[in-house]
Amino acid sequence: MTQSIKFWAVVPAAGVGKRMNADRPKQYLELAGKTVIEHTLLRLLNADVFSAVAVAISEEDPFWPELEVSAHEKVITAAGGKERADSVLSALQSIRALASDDDWVLVHDAARPCITATDIRHLINSLENDEIGGILALSSHDTLKNVQGGSIAGTLDRSHIWRALTPQMFRYGLLKSALEAAEGNKAVTDEASALELQGWQPKIVEGRPDNIKITRPEDLALAQFYMEQQND
Ligand code: C5P
Repeated sequence: MTQSIKFWAVVPAAGVGKRMNADRPKQYLELAGKTVIEHTLLRLLNADVFSAVAVAISEEDPFWPELEVSAHEKVITAAGGKERADSVLSALQSIRALASDDDWVLVHDAARPCITATDIRHLINSLENDEIGGILALSSHDTLKNVQGGSIAGTLDRSHIWRALTPQMFRYGLLKSALEAAEGNKAVTDEASALELQGWQPKIVEGRPDNIKITRPEDLALAQFYMEQQND
């Protein structure tokens, strides 16, 4: 009998979020009565598709153990790493004994608290029969410039440009080996880029524009606005 394929969520949450100018990492800032990371994790848990959610947390993080969700039966805590990719790899290692190579892993930024069950289901339905996997992304509406030393050196053809969002969905075995092969490579700022370096061409699935990443202080107000509008 073949074992059924499982879905795992991996949440890198070991960043410091320097661009927020706050007294704590951005995932612990308050948004609509909860911290950013609580919103993110509760939305993943409530989507009801994941066997567990592995969260990468910095070893010097005093905020995480204080949150009720850190003790949730489906939440596994892993040590964070130097770069985002190291944190993801550490979270993958924490579920090594539970996951099989063909299982799907959805990696989602802790700093994207507006993720909806609609987007998660859309990504899974679009890719679950795919060999490799892919990512949620948004096409670019702005005209994009290549800038060198403060001046415009060229205009990119925006019809080919997409913004990479999360979740990014890949097979456990393939993702782990691609991240291991890319260790130390600073150009790997998402999971898809690690697979691209191995010669794979991950798929694009159009996501919702409300799935924003909290990066700057004003993003918190925008996230709150989106949450008030969402009813799915
Ligand atoms: O800094 P940025 O917004 O790109 O971070 C994206 C996600 O990666 C955040 O959720 C952050 O906490 C996480 N991260 C991590 N380990 C690092 C750096 C970032 O888990 N070393």
